[in-house]
Amino acid sequence: MAFLKRRPAAEAQVDFDHLPRHVAIIMDGNGRWAKKRGLPRTAGHAAGAENFRTIATYCKDIGLEYLTVYAFSTENWKRPAEEVSAIMGLLKKYLLEAISRMERDRVKMRFFGDLSPLDPELQALCRRTEEISTHYEGCQVNICLNYGGRDEVLRAAKAFAEDCVRGDQKPGDLTEETFGSYLFSDGVPDPDLVIRPSGEIRISNFLLWQSAYAEFYFTDVLWPDFTKEELNKALAAYQGRSRRFGGV
Ligand code: FPP
Repeated sequence: MAFLKRRPAAEAQVDFDHLPRHVAIIMDGNGRWAKKRGLPRTAGHAAGAENFRTIATYCKDIGLEYLTVYAFSTENWKRPAEEVSAIMGLLKKYLLEAISRMERDRVKMRFFGDLSPLDPELQALCRRTEEISTHYEGCQVNICLNYGGRDEVLRAAKAFAEDCVRGDQKPGDLTEETFGSYLFSDGVPDPDLVIRPSGEIRISNFLLWQSAYAEFYFTDVLWPDFTKEELNKALAAYQGRSRRFGGV
C-alpha cells in the first residue's frame, strides 16, 4: 500500500507516491492571527515565517519537487514602514539561518521578483542562497519577493520586445514556452496546486501566467496555524480532483 509509506498516520489520506510536482502558497492571515491574540501584526509575521520553515521542511521530507511562497508582493510596500521593515528583517534572519544549515538541508532556493529595491544586504543574502544551492537536487523552494504577476508579465513582454529590436527574436515566432522563459519562473514547471489560507478567495496578483491550469484550495485557517495536517488536507483534496486541462 503506497499510502503514508514514509510518515506516521495522518487524518487526510494522501497518496505520497503521486504528489503534485509543484505547490504554491499565499501565506495569508498573519495579521489576523496576531490580532486574535492581542499581539502586534509583526508577531503574526514572525509566526508566519516560523511556519514557513516548518512547511518547507515538511515539503522536502515528503518529496515535493517545488514549493513557491508569496512572501512580499509589489503592492505590500503600501504597508506601514515598520511592518515592511519587520518582514524584511524576518527574511534576513531566515536567510542567514538557511545559509548556515544549507549543506545539511540541501534545499535549492530561488527568488522570484525584482530584488533591486531591497536593502543591499538582503539582496546579497538572496543571491548567496541561490548560488550556494544552485547544484542541489530534490526540493526547490521559490520565494516571491517584491513579486507581482502583472509586473512579471510586463517585464517579460519588455525583455522579449528588446530582443526583437536586437534581432534575437521574431514577434511571429513567440510561443507560450518562449514567453515562459522570460518569466522569473523560467525552468520551473507551472504550479499544480495553489493554496490560499485565511478565508480570502482571490489570487492577489500571484503567479498569474503560471497558474492557468492550477487547482485552487482555499481554507479559513490562518497561515501561522496552517499545519502539516492542513497541507495534507490540501494535498488529499487535490488528489480527489480530475484535471482535464481543457479536454474532456
Ligand atoms: C500576508 O498576511 C503576509 C505577508 C504579506 C507577509 C508574509 C511574510 C512572512 C510569512 C514572513 C517572511 C517570510 C519568509 C519566507 C521567511 P497579512 O499580513 O496580509 O495578514 P492579514 O490579511 O491577516 O492582515
